Amino acid sequence: MAAQKPRAMRSSRGNDFLKLIAHGPIDSSAGSEGLHGAIRVPGDKSISHRSIMLGSIAEGQTRVQGFLQGADALATLEAFRAMGVRIDNAGNDGLVVHGVGLHGLRAPHQPLDLGNSGTSMRLLAGLLAGQHFDSVLKGDSSLSGRPMNRVAAPLREMGARIDTEAEGRPPLHIYGGNALKGISYQMPLASAQVKSCLLLAGLYADGETRVTEPAPTRDHTERMLQGFGYKVRRDGATAIVQGGGRLCGTDIDVPGDISSAAFFLVAASITPGSVLRLEHVGVNPTRTGVIDILQLMGADIELSKHRDVGGEPVADITVRAATLKGIAIPPALVPLAIDEFPVLFIAAACANGETIVSGAEELRVKESDRIQAMVDGLQQLGVQANGTADGAVIRGGAMGVGQAGVSIECHHDHRIAMAFGVAGCRAHCRIAVPGCDNIATSFPNFGELAAAVGMPVNIET
Ligand code: S3P
Repeated sequence: MAAQKPRAMRSSRGNDFLKLIAHGPIDSSAGSEGLHGAIRVPGDKSISHRSIMLGSIAEGQTRVQGFLQGADALATLEAFRAMGVRIDNAGNDGLVVHGVGLHGLRAPHQPLDLGNSGTSMRLLAGLLAGQHFDSVLKGDSSLSGRPMNRVAAPLREMGARIDTEAEGRPPLHIYGGNALKGISYQMPLASAQVKSCLLLAGLYADGETRVTEPAPTRDHTERMLQGFGYKVRRDGATAIVQGGGRLCGTDIDVPGDISSAAFFLVAASITPGSVLRLEHVGVNPTRTGVIDILQLMGADIELSKHRDVGGEPVADITVRAATLKGIAIPPALVPLAIDEFPVLFIAAACANGETIVSGAEELRVKESDRIQAMVDGLQQLGVQANGTADGAVIRGGAMGVGQAGVSIECHHDHRIAMAFGVAGCRAHCRIAVPGCDNIATSFPNFGELAAAVGMPVNIET
């Protein structure tokens, strides 16, 4: 895909009330002493979405612990409530989902508003294509600019009827009552959202649905389907489901989100004197690319207390400050760390030498154009960073030298905002990130946990 500047430039809706201020180590005593403590980051966003979706179409109750109370996962939860599923809060991030079975969802009275959440929209598109009723999926202005043909086209091959706006943008109009048939689909890009969408549609299809991925992507859908007693076969790079089975309600313990932990992995790595423990983090091998990349850069990261929690590997992670070096990031690791690139760009800016990111063109169609947004912000801090069509080249160096402060545009993208919060651990100037409200989509207590470990960051109104 060609480099396209406009997406990062387009501001999404989103509230503009909150501003992240990273004070920088210069005027913060905490910064110079490092980050310390033991924390547990909130539940995994991908697993939280799937716990509601599969719990809803299962028979019987599903108890979920450690659910992410972030806006994205809550958008999925509200969508299923709007389709007649009873979901009770059970306190302490616990939920009880009263499943209605594969065919028990009811037509929503209104369009389902999925806010900023691409995962909700793409996975729901698959699930709703197999229903007997019509539905409309819409989102905020960021989500309204994201590509949906990647799911609409293969779903149509399965027999679904879906209308999109121009160029495959949302809203999606999904027409019910169409018989789906299983297909063999070779995904042109490595996307867990596309794979999951088609597997969910496959539950409603006649025959087998086979989805082949060009590179491994997160496999939470396959693991969780098995946890609900639904057989998923794997043949090399192909995941296979047979339609017409049933899911049985189960218990789900959502591990901490490695994508949220990543901000602390980088913050502690780049802040001298740090020793930090992140407890109960999901370390599914399809998600641990960020650890592999940081270790290749020289990071000191240790995993302990490996355990299996409901079919997902979990561990505690200890990270100590280290001198990082620039590397050419192996493209094979890109899909395994796709959400962690904003903060990996900060690690690269603090490393000795050059870091080359390639094979990461998908970053241009996330909640913002993350390549452009990160390159722009790093350049404002005086870092030599240049975007390429599918990545960037970043030369490590001091950030914010001789500057009083910079104000960085996060384009209402949660991970861009938090990444520049982490930059504050090393920048020689104050960094302001206005309009960072969407941090709440994935990591509502980022500010509190950052303060708890001594990161020089505040989130203010
Ligand atoms: C997700 C898959 C990834 C990721 C997103 C969550 C999922 O998207 O970026 O945050 O839960 O399946 P792609 O499938 O577009 O790579």
